[in-house]
Amino acid sequence: MIGLGLIGTGGMANHHATQYSKIEGVKIIACCDVSKERASAFAAKWQVPRIYNDYLEMLEKEKLDGVDNVTPDAMHADISIAAVEKGLPILCEKPLASNLADAERMLAAVDRHPVINMVNFSYRNSSGLQAAVEVVRSGALGQLRHVESSYLQSWLASRGWGDWRTGDNWLWRLSTKHGSMGVLGDIGVHIYDMTSFLCGDISEIQCTLRTFDKGVPGNRIGDYVLDANESFVSTVSFKNGGLGTIHASRWAVGHANSLRARVCGDQGAIEIDLDRSYDEYRICSGQDHVDHFKWETVKCPPTPTNYERFVNAIRTGKQDPSDFANGARIQAYLHYSVESDKTGQRVVVP
Ligand SMILES: NC(=O)c1ccc[n+]([C@@H]2O[C@H](COP(=O)([O-])OP(=O)(O)OC[C@H]3O[C@@H](n4cnc5c(N)ncnc54)[C@H](O)[C@@H]3O)[C@@H](O)[C@H]2O)c1
Repeated sequence: MIGLGLIGTGGMANHHATQYSKIEGVKIIACCDVSKERASAFAAKWQVPRIYNDYLEMLEKEKLDGVDNVTPDAMHADISIAAVEKGLPILCEKPLASNLADAERMLAAVDRHPVINMVNFSYRNSSGLQAAVEVVRSGALGQLRHVESSYLQSWLASRGWGDWRTGDNWLWRLSTKHGSMGVLGDIGVHIYDMTSFLCGDISEIQCTLRTFDKGVPGNRIGDYVLDANESFVSTVSFKNGGLGTIHASRWAVGHANSLRARVCGDQGAIEIDLDRSYDEYRICSGQDHVDHFKWETVKCPPTPTNYERFVNAIRTGKQDPSDFANGARIQAYLHYSVESDKTGQRVVVP
């Protein structure tokens, strides 16, 4: 049996628990939250036998096979490092950290204490994306030329997911003081990961971030100053020579949670649209298809979820590619996006 300790029993933790409940031989044996009420409600719902309010105490007292860090972004670094220093495999929510210095500390920790380390880039759960990555890496599209990818949400305009004005779970995402990097850190991180997973490393970024007037007096609600970015547009160059745009917004009315990537090489193109399907991609490849703008839809066989990958990695000792090193690279893209916005310049990613 794999016994996990889960830290941060808020919204996303319930999704993690649902996913673990589908995996044979896995159990959350302890959970921790600074909110006693949330921890107790989570433990009751998922039959977790032991509850803590201090993660250090949990790490000290429990015999765990792995730790799942589902706390807000600002707590990712210290909690994950504490688990790593105890020699425990760790799955950390995205973004790896709330700044590049913390991401580098986390990377240094797993270098010092080599344990299984993963970041939960959820859209890697798409078998369509996993298969599309294989197609791009096979060279079937030729040389990378042009990329367009986006992640669109609308919860600042829509009440479809609730009213952001009334919940801490929304408000921390709008406040830099509460550790949020805005839409860039929240969902930009996914689209940067998805795009670089498909197209390889990014070498240059020119980014514009935007925070709009939300009609809130003083632009604050209680302790939350609503200063985090809400839309961004980046123009990027890839190390292998392609050019692309990557953008995301919380103001994309009509879209709940839409991720899309279009990748064009000089011999073919591939498209992922997760609104349409998680287990398909579309491809235009081969001279006849290229000449006649013909696309085919390819249905892809299932691939393991991130939760299954984490458990498999614990069982086999074999590291998954969605590791802290990749998480820190994506964090660098976020960092240099902010730098570019500040200076108005294109920034070279070291
Ligand atoms: N991979 C995805 O698609 C995805 C989706 C949503 C959220 N997330 C990420 O998951 C994380 C949590 O998001 P959420 O929506 O569940 O937030 P949330 O605010 O609903 O829950 C976070 C929980 O962590 C607890 N917490 C805070 N500090 C703590 C500490 N020091 N020790 C223990 N518990 C602590 C809070 O009390 C809260 O219950 C964030 O990093 C977020 O970016 C990822």
